[in-house]
Amino acid sequence: MPIAPQVRELLLQSLEHELGGVLVYQTALECVRNADLEREWRKYLDQTQHHVEVLTGACVDLGLDPDEMTPGRKVVQHNGKGLVTAMKMALAASDAAAAELVACECVVLAETKDHFDWQLIGECAKALGGEAGAALQQAYDDVEDEEDEHLYHTKGWCRELWLQSLGLPAQLPPLEERRDVRSAAEEAEVEQARKH
Ligand SMILES: [Fe+2]
Ligand SMILES: [Fe+2]
Repeated sequence: MPIAPQVRELLLQSLEHELGGVLVYQTALECVRNADLEREWRKYLDQTQHHVEVLTGACVDLGLDPDEMTPGRKVVQHNGKGLVTAMKMALAASDAAAAELVACECVVLAETKDHFDWQLIGECAKALGGEAGAALQQAYDDVEDEEDEHLYHTKGWCRELWLQSLGLPAQLPPLEERRDVRSAAEEAEVEQARKH
């Protein structure tokens, strides 16, 4: 059975976003100063490179051309380049602390779409069924847990580094890192804990 055009669009956009994510992490690693965050982002870079391979494989399994360009995919590519440009601008301004914050925000933005893409891929896997559904489910199972970590932990780092820059009490590494937050519910618990 041919894959529906919008499922193809989701997979090609998701692949493009993972490709852009590799460049985002490579540039973010030029901006990072905190050694713990650097170690985290090196791990996320490796995982993102693996996500490119997983999604390329899933596209091939579903009979799609992973190199096919679509108007929507071009937009995703453009947004990824925009994040890299933003970090390069911050680096060029020679304020290392500010560049690290810009990198945190760029990673949060990138990981928000990354997380969203994989949520939708999980829904498609369930709905598709058959061999195509099984191939997508396998990709989802390989990746999804890592996407939770990328998003929730980086949001924590971004908040605490911003607080530090404001001269306010900051917890580094953030609670999300120390509690290994992997869901919106756990993130909400951290939010509550921070208020007490
Ligand atoms: Fe990813
Ligand atoms: Fe990610």
